[in-house]
Amino acid sequence: MSPRPGVPGPVVRPRRLRQSAAVRRLVAETRLHPAELVLPVFVKEGAREPVAIGAMPGVVQHSLESVVEVAREAVEAGIGGLMLFGVPEEKDATGTGADDPEGILNVAIEAVVDAVGDRTVVMADLCLDEFTDHGHCGVLDREGRVDNDATLERYAAMALAQARAGAPVLGLSGMMDGQVGHVREALDAAGFTDTIILAYSAKYTSGLYGPFREAVESSLEGDRNTYQQDPANATESVRELELDIAEGADIVMVKPATPHLDIIRAAAEMSPVPVAAYQISGEYAQIEAASANGWINRERAILESLLGIRRAGAQIILTYYALEAAALLRR
Ligand code: PBG
Repeated sequence: MSPRPGVPGPVVRPRRLRQSAAVRRLVAETRLHPAELVLPVFVKEGAREPVAIGAMPGVVQHSLESVVEVAREAVEAGIGGLMLFGVPEEKDATGTGADDPEGILNVAIEAVVDAVGDRTVVMADLCLDEFTDHGHCGVLDREGRVDNDATLERYAAMALAQARAGAPVLGLSGMMDGQVGHVREALDAAGFTDTIILAYSAKYTSGLYGPFREAVESSLEGDRNTYQQDPANATESVRELELDIAEGADIVMVKPATPHLDIIRAAAEMSPVPVAAYQISGEYAQIEAASANGWINRERAILESLLGIRRAGAQIILTYYALEAAALLRR
């Protein structure tokens, strides 16, 4: 009925489709599913039990034992996979621990794959920053600059070590030019033609990586502005995505997620391969800090953040909330 006599009310009423949970569910355009969530996990060499990470409440550095446990939980929860990061006891200029078969990341890959096989997808971070004493994602030249092409050789060695340890997916996160093509060639030459490359194609330099750097005990001083992208640029991302796809990336990724939803959308529109997005440590920390203060509704904020990333066009989401979100979605 019209609110005022003689004045007709609106005929078109979008609110009709919002009147009950059941109707809203019926017309929802985007759905989250545990199978598209991937949990990043940290494994600390020598740890006897999980170690808390101050800036990431609820996230820990795992021991070898506890990471195997969490991999089993991932299978139980039906999430898409795990992304493993190693935290070595010793670091050096070239990141020797990265391609050492006894290095923590390679040992963890083996332990996790041994425990869960292909019941969830085990992924390994392929980058040198956790293993170098200067904290950069590559090796340095005499002037202290990151040496792109020398780094590619290190990535190839790392890729072979990870593939030999049994990782079905390698996450190339170093932002060196030509890294996808170089690693693909090295893998193929060694017979690892089935190893999947997940390329961090559009990876921006960011003030939100801080908690991660605590998590991996990074020794970085300075920044990664000469290899990670400038947040001012969007077209450049398309170029990075095109290059990685041409070099053979099987999955491409945009990172961080929330500040770059437009880039996720652009990737979804142009990419012939699946698009992933990484809700990074600082995005997690923002939600945790505000929730701890009682300023926001934590569970709603978690699901809303993931839904936004999904709606922007990411088919796969790396998130520290993967297990918890899977439980929330099941409810
Ligand atoms: C590089 C890498 C980083 C992250 C994932 N892979 C750190 C960086 O680029 O400094 C960040 C993930 C996060 O912040 O959650 N190995």
